[in-house]
Amino acid sequence: MRKKSSTSSPVCATCKIHDHDTLHFPSGFLWGAATSSHQVEGGNENEWSAWEREPGNILDGTESGDAADQWNRYESDFDLAQKLGHTMHRLSVEWSRIEPEPGQFDEEAIAHYRDMLHALKDRGMTVMLTLHHFTNPIWFANMGGWESRKSVALFERFVRRIIPEFREYVDLWCTINEPNVYASNSFLRGEWPPQRKSVWAYYRVTRHLARAHRRAYKLIHAQIDDAKVGIAQNVFSIESYQWWEFDDYIKMRLLNYFWNHHFFSLAGRRYQDYIGVNYYFHVRIRKSGIFSFRTMDSREEHREGSDLGWELYPNGLFQSIMNMRQYGVPIYVTENGLAAVNDHRRSRFMVGSLKETYHAIRAGADVRGYCYWSLIDNFEWNKGFAPRFGMIEVDYKTQKRTPRNSAFLFAHIAKMNGISHDMFRYLGHSAHEEPETYV
Ligand code: BGC
Repeated sequence: MRKKSSTSSPVCATCKIHDHDTLHFPSGFLWGAATSSHQVEGGNENEWSAWEREPGNILDGTESGDAADQWNRYESDFDLAQKLGHTMHRLSVEWSRIEPEPGQFDEEAIAHYRDMLHALKDRGMTVMLTLHHFTNPIWFANMGGWESRKSVALFERFVRRIIPEFREYVDLWCTINEPNVYASNSFLRGEWPPQRKSVWAYYRVTRHLARAHRRAYKLIHAQIDDAKVGIAQNVFSIESYQWWEFDDYIKMRLLNYFWNHHFFSLAGRRYQDYIGVNYYFHVRIRKSGIFSFRTMDSREEHREGSDLGWELYPNGLFQSIMNMRQYGVPIYVTENGLAAVNDHRRSRFMVGSLKETYHAIRAGADVRGYCYWSLIDNFEWNKGFAPRFGMIEVDYKTQKRTPRNSAFLFAHIAKMNGISHDMFRYLGHSAHEEPETYV
């Protein structure tokens, strides 16, 4: 039901000429949201939580602690998602809970995850389960983490154990979340644990993650006939201001290869039943020396950004999806979102991004679903609780959940399986205006 509408059909409020058709998504398109275990569950003891306790590591000084307490509140969170019309949910399991000591598996934790997955199926959701979303058990980190050659076999042991436990509830297996982000932030840029800054470590880790993916892929397929296995890749959309100049064109191609595609080359193109696209960043290469590389900070151009200063560029989602088409498998938008206290900004970004997804489908991309990041506010890695990514607000003192207006807008889109033309008005509004409210 729509409240407060300033115009009605058949005259379009934007162009004032005529009504336009709703942009219909293919039937069966999946609408949902994503989370990850460490960011929402609370009560995790892993390499990351240990690192959080060292002063200065988390930007706003918080620790994940109880996070959004989803470990205990999953039923009501999933009820909300269902009420908001979600037909898909992406979540992850926490390796350190399931295997707290090497080779020792916690039956209670496994049973708890089974209950969570069951709860999603009960609510009619298509379930995507991520097996590694940035966090590792402490014992694994102590054994050398992903730098060690042993990492692949250790991950394989974990995966082998959980497949039979969760198989009846999982529709889409996502082995590893953003191997490129994890390897670069943790092993090249030194921002995340274990804070390494080494090209060699980065390369080794990427190779191990690729091998781990391939092994997990084979294991899952060996046990489940029609399994769908892939990864969620962080995809940059890239442009160069001087694309006609040879060196800048080459830089653009190299960045595209190393960030967007290298992992798939290492893991093997055949080992992807689908590609998950996580889209957040548009990169603009600016002129610099032949062997140097500079990107433009969108703030210098006074472009609109999120609360984290990340440029809001929905068109980049179109480019990212089209870029991933080359693998010839179905695509899911496994993450797309922004940190914004100002929810009008989120609504505008949402309509823009979904419109771009629609156009990519029209242009021939086989996109099967879209997961907004994130269902609820959560712990944003080295930045703490301050960034608000949720379509549902969390009051961390009381753990009260309050769906934001954007959640209702999304529900409306999901229900219609499309974007009505009057929603385009969001695109033309400033951050301070609310053109429509959906309830
Ligand atoms: C990650 C999420 C993270 C989000 C926003 C993605 O790279 O998968 O865990 O919260 O981006 O930074």
